[in-house]
Amino acid sequence: MIRPPLSTFFYAIVFSGLLGFQARAGTSEALLARGENLFVLGGCGHCHTAEDGPMLAGGDPLKTPFGTFYPPNITPDPETGIGNWSEKDLTRALREGISPHGQPYYPAFPFTSFTLMKDEDLTALKAYLDTVPPIRHQTPAHDLSFPFNVRRGLWGWRWLFFRPARFQPDPMRSGQWNRGAYLVQGPGHCGECHTPRNWMGALDRSRAYAGSVVGELNAPNITPDPEYGIGEWSETDLLYFFETGMKPDGDTASDEMAKIIRKGISKLPEKDLRAIIEYLQSLPPIAAEP
Ligand code: HEC
Ligand code: HEC
Repeated sequence: MIRPPLSTFFYAIVFSGLLGFQARAGTSEALLARGENLFVLGGCGHCHTAEDGPMLAGGDPLKTPFGTFYPPNITPDPETGIGNWSEKDLTRALREGISPHGQPYYPAFPFTSFTLMKDEDLTALKAYLDTVPPIRHQTPAHDLSFPFNVRRGLWGWRWLFFRPARFQPDPMRSGQWNRGAYLVQGPGHCGECHTPRNWMGALDRSRAYAGSVVGELNAPNITPDPEYGIGEWSETDLLYFFETGMKPDGDTASDEMAKIIRKGISKLPEKDLRAIIEYLQSLPPIAAEP
C-alpha cells in the first residue's frame, strides 16, 4: 500500500474545512436575504416599529373597532422582547397564533395569513429577526373594550374562524402563479386589509380582495373588475405602482399603502412582483365597492 504523505491529509482537512466554512457563510447570507424579504413583505417592521422609535421595539398604537392594540417589542431582548424564543416558539406564534405560554393571540396580529408560511421561510425569518439589535422596552398593555379585553374569549373566535393551514400549491397553475398566490395570501397578508371583514372581525373570504373600510383605513377593491377593481391596470401599471407608489392616473398611493410600498413591496425582487401581479390578475373579478 502506498501511503500518501501526512501533509496531504493535513491539506485535505484544512481545505475541506475551508469549503465547509464557505458553504455555511454562503447559506447564511442567502438565508438572511430571504428572511429580510419576508420581513419586509410581512410588514413586521411596519407594525412593530413606532414612527421614530428603534426597530421592532414596539409599534405605534393600532386603533381598531375593538380598541387599541400596542404591537409588542419583538427585538431579541430576552426580557421585554422575544430573545428567549426558539424557532419553534416563533413558528407557533406565526402559524397558530399561540404564545409560548399557550395563550391565543388577537387576530390584529395577522397570523391568520402567516399560517400559510413555509417551514424554510420561517427559518429564514427567525434568522433575520435574530440579527436585529436587542432593545429593552416594555410596551403598554392593549386597551380593549369588554368583552374583547378577555383573552380567553379568543378561543371561541378561533373555533369559529381560524384553522392553522399550510399553503397548497395549485398543480394546474404555473410556478409563477403559485409563487404569487403564496406571497399574497401568506407573508404579504394583502387580504388582511383588502378583504372585507364580518362584524366579528373575521375575513369574509367569499368577497376576497373586494376592498374593505375599517375605521380610517380605506383599502380599495384589487380584483380585476374593470370598474370597481384594477381591471384596467396593465401589468406594467401594477409593476410601476409596486415599485414607486404611482398610479396610472398620476395619483400617488396614500397613507398605509404608501408605507407598505416604500418599506416593503418596492424592495422585493422583480420576479416576485411579477408573480404577485400574475396572481392578482387571475382573481375572480368582484363588481362592488368596499
Ligand atoms: C397589522 C400589524 C402587525 C403586523 C403586520 C405584524 N404584527 Fe406581530 N403583532 C401585532 C400585534 C397587535 C400583536 C399583539 C397580539 C396580541 O397581543 O394578542 C403582535 C404580536 C406578535 C408577536 C408575539 C410577541 C409576544 O411577545 O408574544 C410576534 C412574535 C410577532 N407579532 C411577530 C411578527 C412578525 C415576525 C411579523 C412579520 C412577519 C409581524 N409580527 C407582523 C401586529 C402585527
Ligand atoms: C395595512 C393595509 C394594507 C395592506 C397589508 C395592503 N394594502 Fe394595498 N392598499 C391599502 C390602502 C389603504 C390602499 C389605498 C391607497 C390609495 O388609494 O392611495 C391600497 C391600495 C392598493 C392598490 C391600488 C388600488 C387602487 O385602485 O388604487 C393595489 C394594487 C394594492 N393596494 C395591492 C396590494 C397588495 C398586492 C398587497 C399585498 C402584497 C397589499 N396591497 C397590502 C392597504 C393595504
